[in-house]
Order: sequence, then structure tokens, then C-alpha cells
Amino acid sequence: MEQKRYGHFDDLHREYVITDPQTPWPWINYLGNEDFFSLISNTAGGYSFYKDAKFRRITRYRYNNVPMDNGGRYFYLKDGDTVWNPGWKPCKTPLDFYECRHGMSYTRITGRKNGVEASVLFFVPLKKWAEVQKLTLTNQSDEVKQLKLFSFEEWCLWNAATDMENFQRNFSTGEVEIEDSTIYHKTEYRERRNHYAFYHVNTPIQGFDTDRETFIGLYNEFADPQVVMEGKPRNSHAHGWSPIASHYIEITLKPGETKDLVFLLGYVENEQDQKFAAPQVINKEKAHALIAELDTTEKVDKAFAELCDYWDKLLNIYQVKTANDKLDRMVNIWNQYQCMVTFNFSRSASFFESGIGRGMGFRDSNQDLVGFVHQIPSRARQRIIDIASTQFPDGGCYHQYQPLTKRGNNDIGGGFNDDPCWLIFGTIAYIKESGDFSILDEMVPFDNQPGSEVTLFEHLKISMDHVIKNLGPHMLPLIGRADWNDCLNLNCFSWDPNESFQTTENVSEGTKAESLMIAGLFVVTGKDYVALCQKLGKTAEAERMQQAVDAMIEAVKKHGWDGEWYLRAYDFYGRKIGSNECEEGKIFIESQGWCTMAEIGADDGMVAKSLDSCKKYLECEHGMVLNNPAFTKYIYEYGEISSYPEGYKENAGIFCHNNPWVIIGECIAGRGNDAWSHYAKILPSYVEEKYQTLHKVEPYVNCQMVAGKDAFRPGEGKNSWLTGTAAWMWYTVSEFILGIKPDYDGIRIDPCLPETASDYTVSRKFREADYDITIHPNGSQKGVKQIVLDGQAIDGTVIPYSKGHHVVEVTM
Ligand code: GLC
Ligand code: GLC
Repeated sequence: MEQKRYGHFDDLHREYVITDPQTPWPWINYLGNEDFFSLISNTAGGYSFYKDAKFRRITRYRYNNVPMDNGGRYFYLKDGDTVWNPGWKPCKTPLDFYECRHGMSYTRITGRKNGVEASVLFFVPLKKWAEVQKLTLTNQSDEVKQLKLFSFEEWCLWNAATDMENFQRNFSTGEVEIEDSTIYHKTEYRERRNHYAFYHVNTPIQGFDTDRETFIGLYNEFADPQVVMEGKPRNSHAHGWSPIASHYIEITLKPGETKDLVFLLGYVENEQDQKFAAPQVINKEKAHALIAELDTTEKVDKAFAELCDYWDKLLNIYQVKTANDKLDRMVNIWNQYQCMVTFNFSRSASFFESGIGRGMGFRDSNQDLVGFVHQIPSRARQRIIDIASTQFPDGGCYHQYQPLTKRGNNDIGGGFNDDPCWLIFGTIAYIKESGDFSILDEMVPFDNQPGSEVTLFEHLKISMDHVIKNLGPHMLPLIGRADWNDCLNLNCFSWDPNESFQTTENVSEGTKAESLMIAGLFVVTGKDYVALCQKLGKTAEAERMQQAVDAMIEAVKKHGWDGEWYLRAYDFYGRKIGSNECEEGKIFIESQGWCTMAEIGADDGMVAKSLDSCKKYLECEHGMVLNNPAFTKYIYEYGEISSYPEGYKENAGIFCHNNPWVIIGECIAGRGNDAWSHYAKILPSYVEEKYQTLHKVEPYVNCQMVAGKDAFRPGEGKNSWLTGTAAWMWYTVSEFILGIKPDYDGIRIDPCLPETASDYTVSRKFREADYDITIHPNGSQKGVKQIVLDGQAIDGTVIPYSKGHHVVEVTM
């Protein structure tokens, strides 16, 4: 397959520059940092929502559309008989120049046609409930240009799920209001909703349309809207059907002249008793105020500068300088950026997640937090409380919750037995970063029930206990509905294609299904929990849990070792999974990752053998596959994992999320060369260089899954952006490879590098201190010989925390 290039990195501006609009798949970006969010593709497709992509969808988007990625915020320019869009789509008029720059929470799309340049900057200003679209038009020709401009947004009737199904109702409810240059969308505002949206432009308009069929025409498309083709708005007023918002503006540009127009897509909430200005007329005060804050180029430029400054500060918390720019750009820019995005959205809204299926995952959000916590610890703190509030008194928890309501999601329920451990993982990461132990004293309810509050520490304790109280015949953790691998469904026996493996009956009575992944996870988080208890002076609790951890280690050594690697699980009947004795699925990655991170049986050579087996059986050109050999038929006792064709998703796909577990295992074992080679295989900047066409999805972020060696097209990526891979890649590189590990009392320095690594520096802000750390690897893969802090050699590998600026020299 010829590997065409569609773009390149611009590290100086922290942008990815797409130079060909016909990317192998829409390459998207995210706008917004809190509350108001948008997804935007390289041709301006996508949609906006407030907090929750399901319950507050502001603009409409049709997933899996034909053609792909149709619908978005579109500007149509009519210049004589030529109609074109700055982002090429939807008209697809060939452009003289096209460029899309995806940056940190902004996207700039520029097109040129017949001497006119149209450049649109899209962003959501900090703390504002609005998307700004600043359109700059420049006449680069030597004639006067008379342009007709039509904007376009399509409203979603708020609930993205019912918007796509309940047409007998929807086609009668749509309502709008038009006031000057603002089009208001107020469907259902007359009854229970206290919110509306608007689309504004900061110039007088010469017309508008708000009825979709009038604007596009029933037999036309986004590519040739009737009104645009005719060059004449109809001033349509939507009543029911499908309301849209389109401004019509006539623009004259002299040669060399430039004009800015600021479009604003906003969202407003009113108190119930303040909803109306007059019967049937919405109270527009807040909309007016929001518009007034962003109605000039100067105000918008200032808001944009603030956004850029915000990102400068966030990214400057951790910056590395090595001899390898492919590493630096991921660490300094894109990996950190993706961590913010996954923290915000969990697995809810991307071009693979429809925004209606899933809210915030209990395990997902805890892991995402580890990638984000250094950026804004206070937001991580709130997230931990929100997550813990969906726990049940027995330590189990809802698997997901909705961001708008923060309530557990009943449809999916609970019973995923790894979930509780992740709360410990997330909380400890937060405390180590922030030094804020007070979070442990916060009173946190169960299942959001007022009156049920106990301290967060108590939540951690019952999380540990949930594992201990659910052990199986080998004294290993019972798997429940599933562990991290949602598709290893050992207690669900399904022959009904109409039921979801995630929610169908979970037979827990009489089960012997145990998980080695949870065993390893329990040991890793258990050791951390014990250290925390010691730190807090809770010696009895530390002692109690140390015994449980020791017992788990023994159980794994005795019942979890297959000779060359760790077993994966025992099934319902107590039969081995992930054993050389199995016909397929002889070895799985998850237990290798967690048990090597936990160093179980390291002294007996288990860790080294397990890591070697990963190289031998799981590794391929594009990363490590989840299991090997792939399952070639459906296995009733295993569930969804065997439902996927070979090489995809949980059936022997390269599920990037779990590769870092093995890489960390390698780092802990001190095998820097191996750690690096696994890491570079799934590092986007390396893939970008070689495989833009094959990889298909965005080359600047990780995707959840790359087709494995057994797949039809190994190396093809899917499910980009919203994946735990982001946080794990960050955790791996920042703490284990580059070796800068936040700890309770300071920063631990313990890199694990390939022999070829040369000197590098990390500047790290940590609480109220900043450290300039230079590491001299001297060809060593692991092992710090000496640390000099501000000119003084210190003992050990932890730089004790103290405020202010510090210079650190590390010799390996
Ligand atoms: C998806 C889910 C995650 C799960 C993983 C493996 O990424 O978001 O919760 O652990 O798949 O099944
Ligand atoms: C499917 C997917 C898995 C995902 C789960 C979420 O099982 O294969 O990756 O975590 O759905 O519900």
C-alpha cells in the first residue's frame, strides 16, 4: 500500500497541519475545556454540546453517514457562479489552497479560491458557553469581489438519542426566534427546558433561513443547498420539521482588503421564573450579554490569546528536551493534550463513540485521571469525589455515570470486579501529585444517596475489601461480569444475538471464574494502599492489607503461573484460560502486564519469562496483540471476546491501552531497550512518519485499537481519541521511561531508557516548586547513581519537596 502523506507536525505552533482535505478518515479535534464542547473534523464537520453529548446536544450530527462526516458548521461562499467552502466540504469545489491546523483546543481551516482567501478560526473561549467562528475573508486578487456568504448550522432537538428516533413527535416541536443577526433555537423551551441556543454574527445580515428543507431543498444536499445555488435567502421561519440557522451576508472586498466576521454559537440557561420576556418570547438577556463579550475581532483575539496562554501554562508543567523530536512532540504536546480530552469525555463522544451510548466509565475515568492530574489537580479532585459517589456500600459500583446528572447508569449497572481497584489507583495518583491528603477526609455518599456519606478513605478501604470478599476457589479474585477486558464474559452464556454481552444475565451462583488481571491489579494498588496507610499512621490497616497482598502473591505463584507466562483467568467451571494447554488464546497480555508490574515471582524468574513471552508471542510490527493465537470461533463460555473476527478489538487486536502495562513491567524490570522498542511501536509520531494511509485515523493521537497480526489489514487503526491509551502512554513515558515520579514527599527519579539515550532535561512544575532536571544516562538502562540537588548530593532517589526553583543533576 502506498503511504501517502496528508499532513505534518508543526511543533512550534503545537499544531498538526493537514494539507489534503481527503484524509483516509475524518481527522478531528476537540474544542472546549469545560462545559461547552465541540467536535470538529478537518473539513469542519462535527457538532457541539453542553456537558453531555446525549442530553444536551446543541447541533445535529449523523453518525456513519454517507458520505462519511456530512453535516457541521459550514460557510458557503458564492463568488459569481462558483460556490465553495473554506474546508472543501460539503461542496467539494476544488480549492487553490487548503489547510487545516488542529491546535490545542482550536482549529483553523483555510481555503482559497479565485483570489479569495477564507480562513476560519474555531474555538471555545475559556469559561464561555459558546463556540467562536472567526471568519477572515481576504481579497488577494486585483478586482473588486462581490461575495455572497451563507452560514449554516443544524439544530439538534437536545436529546441526541430521541432526536434520531422519535420523528412522529420531533417534526412538530421545532421552534425558533429571529432577532436582528441572531437566530435562536428554542424547541421545548415552552415546557420543561430552561435552555436555548443561538447562532449570531456580529454584522447586519441581508437575510436568513431557519427551515432546513427551504434552505437545502428536499431534493438537494449539503453540497448544493437550493438557497445558496440561487444566491438568495428565503427568510424562512421554521415551525416544526428541522430547524436550522443560516445567515445571509453580502460582502464587497476591494483588492487587498480583509474583513473579519465573528460568528457565535451559544448556549444559555435561565431560571424557571425568568424564562420569558413576554408570552412565548424567550428571555434573551444572557444571550445578549454573551454576545456583547465576543462581538468584535479585538475581543475574540483576546479570548483566543487567553486560551493559548492557558495551554502554554498547562503544557509547561512537564516539558522534556531530548535528542529525539518524535518523542518530544508527543510528550510535550499531543499526549498531554489527548489526556485532557479523555479526562473530559471519558468514552462518550468521538467519531467512534456516538455520544449517546456511554457516559463516564468508573474504571476509565480513574485511569484518565492519572494522565491529567498534573495539569489541573483541582478538577481531578472533584472527579474522584464524583466517581466515588457512584459506589455501592459493598464496594461495588456503577460501571458508568452520566456527566450531566452524575448519577450511576442503570442500563449498564455494575458487577465489573476490577472497578473498585481503580478508585485507589486514581486517588493515590492525585495525592502524590498534589500533596493534598485532605481529600481522604471528604464525606462521600454511596450511590449518591444523601445521608449515606462516609470518608473517601473509607471508600478506598471497602474497595480493597471488595476484592478480598470476592475470592474464588484458587483464592484469586472472582471476575464478576468482566474485569478490565469488557469482552471476557465468563459468567454470561449467551446464544441470543439480541442481547448485549455487557448487560445480559451474569451467572454468579456457583462460578469459579477468577481473574489474574485483577490479581495483579490488586497487588499493585494494594502495595500503594499499604504505603498510604503507613503514611497516615494506620498501622493495623496497613498490616491487614499487607497480609492480603502477600496472600494474593502466593495465590498467583501457585495457581496463576503457566510455566512461561501468567495465566489469564479461570472460567466458570474452573478451567484455565490463557494457558499453553488451550487450543487458542494461549497467552493474554493483561495478566502479563499487571503481574509483571506487581513483580510477582520476580525472584523466581517469572517476570523475565513473562516479558520474554510477550515479545515472542504477542509482539508484531505494530505493537503487541491482546491474545495469541486469536480465537477463530465463538466460544459460548468466553463471550464477546470470541465474537470479534481475528485480529480486531479484544480478539487479538493491538489494544493499545494495555501495551503500556507490559512496557511498565519492562521498566520495573530494568529492561530499557525492550521498553523503548515496544513504546515506539505505538507512539503516534513514529506511526505518522511511516503509515498515514494504512493507519487511517488521526496520526497525532493514539487510537484504542490497531488491527493485529491476524487481521486482514494489520496496522489499520480504529477508535481514535477516547481511549485509556492516552493516560497510560503518559504515565509510562513521564514516570517510568523518563523517570520523573511524583511521590508523597517529593519527586522520585528513576528512568528506564534504551542504551542509546543521550542526556536530556525535564522541567517539571510540582505543587509550588519547579525543577530543572538533567539526566545523564551514560549508556545505562536503569539505576540512578547520584542526584545532586541545587549543588548538593542527596541520599536516595527522591528529591525532597520544597517550594521554589531547583536545579537537579542526575547521573545513572
Ligand atoms: C474499552 C473500555 C474499557 C475496557 C476496554 C477493554 O476501552 O472503555 O473500559 O476496559 O475497552 O475491554
Ligand atoms: C465492547 C467493546 C469494548 C468496550 C465495550 C463497552 O465490548 O469491545 O471495547 O469496552 O463494548 O461497552
